[in-house]
Amino acid sequence: MIDSHAHLQDREFNKDLDKVLARATEAGVEKIVCIGFDYMSSRQGMDLARRHKSIFATVGIHPHDAKTLDEQTLEKLYDLALKPRVVAIGEIGLDYYRNLSPREQQKKAFIEQIKLAQELEKPVVIHDRDAHQEVLEIIKKEKAGINGGVMHCYSGHTPLALELIKEGFYISFAGPLTFKNAKKSHEVAQKIPLDRILIETDCPYLSPEPFRGKRNEPAQVKLVAQKLAELRGMKFEEIARITSNNARKVFRIDA
Ligand code: NI
Repeated sequence: MIDSHAHLQDREFNKDLDKVLARATEAGVEKIVCIGFDYMSSRQGMDLARRHKSIFATVGIHPHDAKTLDEQTLEKLYDLALKPRVVAIGEIGLDYYRNLSPREQQKKAFIEQIKLAQELEKPVVIHDRDAHQEVLEIIKKEKAGINGGVMHCYSGHTPLALELIKEGFYISFAGPLTFKNAKKSHEVAQKIPLDRILIETDCPYLSPEPFRGKRNEPAQVKLVAQKLAELRGMKFEEIARITSNNARKVFRIDA
């Protein structure tokens, strides 16, 4: 399996990252994409990717921190993105649930980072919370999926997912897929084409059942894969193989 979205640089993993990585390997997770959310975490992710063969990194400013994206930071992100094993720009997007940065600044940072990805010919990893319509509008207007992209921890409806797929995106499911009341996500997971599905943990957040509320880690992406296999009526091994191939394709990871 490939965990397509993890925050291994989070301080939650400061003490036992080696054990966390060992458990991931043991669970059958061969690669982990470590996602940046501000400048520091992007640097740290790039650093982890340099030190561990199983880790790849993305660099970007999360909508929560959109207000920190100035010209200078954008230039520093550009330089980071050129480093080896940095596979995408993200996570970027809009969060109209917590509104930790003003909405106008979120939009500006989102668009600027889409343009950065286009300059570098890299895919984007998108965070969308309670902003489906505006995220879709920006994606279409800016052709954000031109080099591929991932809708991380997808929470929208099936028709929107199909529209995003048309725009070049992959749809990624995290721990909430395992929740009993996640009927909408279950439907999406059953109806969209298999060759556009990814799995992720978003660790240390979003632990799947039965670990809800506890620290999440890459090994638990297995529970997301198992749920997906159940929803699609397929074998776990098949789902693991297909979602790994999808992740390799969108992030252009060889072998
Ligand atoms: Ni995340």
